[in-house]
Amino acid sequence: MLKEILHAKLLLVTGKGGVGKTSFSSALGKVLSKRGKRVLIVEIDNFNSALEGIFQKRTDYLPTLVEERLYTCNITWNEALSDWLTQTVKMKRVVNMIKNNRIAMIYLDATPGAREIVILSKIIEYLNAFDHVIVDLPASGHALGILKVPKTAINLMRAGPVHDKAIQILDVLSTKTTLPVIISLPEEMVVNETIELVNKLKTEVPFLPAAKVILNRASVPSFSDPEKELLASFERHLEETSEDLSTSKAFVQAGRWEEELEVATANALQEFKEKLLEEIFFFSRLGYLGGFFRKAKASLNRGLEEHLFGDNHRTVVEQMTSALNRQFEKEIQLSKK
Ligand SMILES: Nc1ncnc2c1ncn2[C@@H]1O[C@H](COP(=O)(O)OP(=O)(O)O)[C@@H](O)[C@H]1O
Ligand SMILES: [Mg+2]
Repeated sequence: MLKEILHAKLLLVTGKGGVGKTSFSSALGKVLSKRGKRVLIVEIDNFNSALEGIFQKRTDYLPTLVEERLYTCNITWNEALSDWLTQTVKMKRVVNMIKNNRIAMIYLDATPGAREIVILSKIIEYLNAFDHVIVDLPASGHALGILKVPKTAINLMRAGPVHDKAIQILDVLSTKTTLPVIISLPEEMVVNETIELVNKLKTEVPFLPAAKVILNRASVPSFSDPEKELLASFERHLEETSEDLSTSKAFVQAGRWEEELEVATANALQEFKEKLLEEIFFFSRLGYLGGFFRKAKASLNRGLEEHLFGDNHRTVVEQMTSALNRQFEKEIQLSKK
């Protein structure tokens, strides 16, 4: 059930690059804040904030209000380290001495896990001030690396501030209200990587609650059998004719993509059901031109593009927000019966 998400305080969103992590994090943030909760969406050490484009507000180290009850921030290593030192060392003069000391900084930069512990500890601090903290984590492998650090740090350092913080972080990561969410796509390779990540999380960070998988950019069967027939016959005709039919070809190509996506979606859902023993929630292919926008975009000039499509990323987020709302409402109504 997707509505488990409503009870999660710390949501850790990951998945391969470009699968829709930032779109999903933004949409979820909008849904939860509309439901009356204070919500923070966190990016980690992001030089190029995608959240800024979506919310049209600067994303800073400190939380910025982007919509009613909804905040965004970008936790950068340098600033999180200053915070950390201020808290642990407590004397501003000493903090500045450490920060201005090149050797100390190189040492800190090179200390395995220091970066992750400092950033994670900043994230869990925010759980006091917000009802939900949604972390738009880096891509899968890197995210797994970050989540493994607290346990390793506890084993490496037997005492001291890093040890204590790592224990605190581990505590939060192990609670029921922490939920990892993996975004996937209906592509064989991505599906396999998703299942692999679910299993790796189970074995390498066993204290973490089980991850929820969401399939993005999917398509439910919409072609009838006669339509499929028609598509195939158009295709044959285009191959045989010598006329210049590039426009028709583009349409047939679009039909072909659609059909392939339907098959891939069915395969992905089946695979998840078998391997994860779970029904998976999915988002349709969204945005202008139903997500073929990026392919179509390449062939348009900029003026026309703006005129026809506006901002695709924000449209996707709006559509995802509505889809999530509908799903949560549906599940809530069902559970009342
Ligand atoms: N369901 C969808 N249908 C169509 N396009 C999508 C969908 N989800 C995301 N996108 C688009 O894919 C691109 C990558 O999404 P983004 O959320 O930035 O991914 P990530 O954060 O995982 O890199 C964006 O242009 C976004 O608008
Ligand atoms: Mg992103």
